[in-house]
Amino acid sequence: MGCSLFFLLSILYSVFITSPAIPITNVETLTFDEGYTQLFGDTNLMVLKDGQSVHLSLDERTGLCSGFVSQDLYLHGFFSASIKLPSDYTAGVVVAFYMSNGDMFEKTHDELDFEFLGNIRGKEWRIQTNVYGNGSTAIGREERYGLWFDPTEDFHRYSILWTDQHIVFYVDDTPIREMVRNKAMGGDYPSKPMSLYATIWDGSTWATAGGRYKINYKYAPYIAEFSNLVLHGCAVDPIERSPTCRDRESYTALSSPMTPDQRAAMGEFRRGYMTYSYCYDRVRYPVPPAECPVDHRGANRLRGGGSERFGAVRGQRHGKRRPHRRAPVGTGDVEM
Ligand SMILES: *[C@@H]1O[C@H](CO)[C@@H](O)[C@H](O)[C@H]1NC(C)=O
Repeated sequence: MGCSLFFLLSILYSVFITSPAIPITNVETLTFDEGYTQLFGDTNLMVLKDGQSVHLSLDERTGLCSGFVSQDLYLHGFFSASIKLPSDYTAGVVVAFYMSNGDMFEKTHDELDFEFLGNIRGKEWRIQTNVYGNGSTAIGREERYGLWFDPTEDFHRYSILWTDQHIVFYVDDTPIREMVRNKAMGGDYPSKPMSLYATIWDGSTWATAGGRYKINYKYAPYIAEFSNLVLHGCAVDPIERSPTCRDRESYTALSSPMTPDQRAAMGEFRRGYMTYSYCYDRVRYPVPPAECPVDHRGANRLRGGGSERFGAVRGQRHGKRRPHRRAPVGTGDVEM
C-alpha cells in the first residue's frame, strides 16, 4: 500500500504525562499502544517487547514507507525516542522523527524535524534538523551534522524540546541546536499544536550526495528500531484546541533555560560536527533570517559548503501532490 495520509481528528482523548522533566535520562516512557498509532506501512511496522520497541522497515514490496504517529496533538513539550538506524549500504534511505501539523493546516503548517540520511557503505549517516513555522516552507532552516558515534551500532536518544520560548534538539544528553523565539521571526516560530511522527522512506532523489546515490533494494529490508518512546507535553483537544498542561510544575521545568554546561556542550558539538547551517548559506539567504547569530567564525568555517538539497516538503512527500523542491540543487558532493 502507498503512503496515503490520514488524519486523526477523531482522537479527543487527551492525557498529560506526569514525570520528571529534564534531565532527559529519567523521563517516563510509553508503550506503543499508550501513545501512538500506525500511520502506514502495513506489516512493515512491528511492535515488540510488550510495546516497548517498534521496528519500521522499508522494502521493495511496500516501496514507499512505514511509520507511526502520536495519538494526541501537543502544544509544547518534550518528545524523544531512542533510535537504532539500519547499517551497511543505506544510500537514499531517510528515517524521520518529527513533529508536524501539515495534515491539519495545509497552508500554514508547522514542523520540527530530525531527519537521518543514509549513506553508501563505509560512509556515515548524516543528521539534518529543520524548523518550519506557519507554512514558511519557502524558508528552510536546515542544519546538518555528523555524529561522534556510529548510529547503526546502538540505540541513541534523539529529542525535541519545544516551548513557547525556545526549541532545542538533543542527541543523547547533548543539546545540538537551539532556536530562541525572536520577535522578528513572527509566525515562523511554530506555535500551533503538532503530532509526533516516525517514518522510514525512500529519499533517493535527494538524501545522499544530492541524489547521486539511490536506494538499492538488494540490501532491503532497511529496519529502523525505536524504543524509549517519550511524549511529555501538553496534549490538545483537536476540536477545542485548548491545551491541558495539568502539571504546571513539570511544564515550568521543561521551559527552563539551558545550563552553562549544556550550552558549552552544544557549542563544542556545533564547532566539531556541524557541516551545514542555513544561517551561513549566502546563496539561499543573501540576508540571513532574523534569528541567525552574527558569528563570523562559524560563517567562515561553513560558508565553503555551498547550497545543498533538502528534500521534499513534509506532508507533500507522502501525499498525492507532486513533490516540490524548496532549495537550490546542490553544487557538489558536500554530503559525503
Ligand atoms: C500565519 O499565516 C497566515 C496565512 O498566511 C496569516 O494569516 C497569519 O497571520 C500567520 N500567523 C502568524 C502568527 O504570523
